[in-house]
Amino acid sequence: PKDVVELVESHVREVENFPAPGVLFRDITPLIADPVAFASLIEILADRYRGKVDAVAGLESRGFILGAPLAVALGVGMVTVRKAGRLPGPVVGIDYDLEYGSARMELQPFTVKDGDRVLVIDDVLATGGTADAAFQLIEAAGGVADTLCVLLELVDLGGRGRLHDRHVHSVLTY
Ligand code: PRP
Ligand code: HPA
Repeated sequence: PKDVVELVESHVREVENFPAPGVLFRDITPLIADPVAFASLIEILADRYRGKVDAVAGLESRGFILGAPLAVALGVGMVTVRKAGRLPGPVVGIDYDLEYGSARMELQPFTVKDGDRVLVIDDVLATGGTADAAFQLIEAAGGVADTLCVLLELVDLGGRGRLHDRHVHSVLTY
């Protein structure tokens, strides 16, 4: 629906110089702090994906906030893709490059059933490194992952290109 754009746009804060000088940070906390807006968002997303996915994978941290209620609304399980060292084993992990330095995401493969269609969700798509890692981890665990849902896509950072042939559903682009 068209009003999901307005719903998200009207509840995002723009914060200058966070978390570092020169960065304009898009903050979704007003959206999740508003019970009506948050519930509407989850209902709209659930309508979009109902019957099409077998699990929802949230990317730490803010992807958990969106993913968990969406999974419940869809009647499917919630999978957590986490930063290194947070999950007890067995885990599969993947290192990926950031703009400066590198990071690692991990997943417990037993949380993904063979052949499950897993929807990946997060608040923001920036360079795409985190989402790309999540797709690879879910596939290594036997899942089928070809769609990322985000509220905000920061187009200049090129995340869509890094995700190759995956589908990116972003509510808003900047
Ligand atoms: C942010 C955001 C995405 C990721 C996007 O998370 O929530 O998960 O970065 O960046 P990328 O597309 O360049 O990989 P952050 O690392 O700030 O983690 P947090 O949610 O735990 O604060
Ligand atoms: N907001 C939230 N997460 C982010 C951002 C942002 O502006 N940029 C990179 N990750």
